[in-house]
Amino acid sequence: MKNNLRNTALFSLSLLLLISCSGVKQDVSFFIYNEADTFVSSLMNQIHSDLNQKGKSFDISYASLSQVTQNEQLAQAIENKSAKVLAVNIVDRLSASSIITKADAASLPVLFFNRAPLEEDLLAGKSAYYVGTDPTYEGKAQADLAAKLFGYPSSLSSTYDKNGDGKIQLVILKGEQGHQDTELRSRYCVTELYNLGYDVDIIASSYANWTKEEGYEAMKDIYEKYSSQIELVFCNNDDMAVGALNYLVDKKAFTKGADITSQPFPVIGVDATNIGISYIKDGLLYGTIKNDATAQAKAIAEFISYLSEGKKIDESFPYYGQMADGRTVSVKGITITKKDITE
Ligand code: BGC
Ligand code: CA
Repeated sequence: MKNNLRNTALFSLSLLLLISCSGVKQDVSFFIYNEADTFVSSLMNQIHSDLNQKGKSFDISYASLSQVTQNEQLAQAIENKSAKVLAVNIVDRLSASSIITKADAASLPVLFFNRAPLEEDLLAGKSAYYVGTDPTYEGKAQADLAAKLFGYPSSLSSTYDKNGDGKIQLVILKGEQGHQDTELRSRYCVTELYNLGYDVDIIASSYANWTKEEGYEAMKDIYEKYSSQIELVFCNNDDMAVGALNYLVDKKAFTKGADITSQPFPVIGVDATNIGISYIKDGLLYGTIKNDATAQAKAIAEFISYLSEGKKIDESFPYYGQMADGRTVSVKGITITKKDITE
């Protein structure tokens, strides 16, 4: 009898512990579209250290590119009320509206980042926000960097206008179809060249889903058809540029460690991830536009601080002045070429 009582008591105690452990409320739960994304991983590392500094607790769920998986993860977090804030790196941006509706119903604030919901969905939410980069600016900055090489539109440099036709023969490696950064970077890198007065001939463009592997394959297909015609390559991110350059090195068209001006044509990326920077140092990637993970992480951590403490995003919020729609913070990055890298 005594033993039984003791066992019951022990059992109740462990049950209690179990409940209280699983019931721990995080300040924020993260939902990440793909665990293998280079840029998002570097962003998460920054966020991790910013949140540690602020003493905020968090957990992370990965969706492996499946919106169905991410929806299940979110539904569980909402049902268990296991976090004060949901931070969503959404798989399919068109699913944001239903996520926002569910979060609203549970009175949970939701912060999207890196993968933007449609503006009307964001604005319809009671407490929905977005932190990302400025893809329009990045597209333009890629063109501005190329302009420095090609020179005056009326008298293009013969080093870069290799066929001397007065036009730029351009290749574009695009990220993921439907991603706001793909659409805007791809559009504005071209319109900016036109605005600057250049004549542009887009000889090929291909979606390579942000990855090195697909960047490699896309460049292989394009180079096999157009090798001698290519005068400039814009890539929506550094990983695809790295993949393309790996192909060009394997093909012995590009030489690692050579002077960048001796390569057959310039390749320009976006992100300034560690690997992107190392390809600039190796004389392979001409330059990149920084997708500023440090600054975005800071804004994300600030949102999480505010929202997890139940504070309103109003004039007191440090980024409020930059939020044109009251919901979005976009961070502009700088242009980086070899001369900007010190070590
Ligand atoms: C980055 C890409 C990344 C993508 C993921 C973009 O902003 O430039 O490198 O793969 O976000 O959503
Ligand atoms: Ca030309």
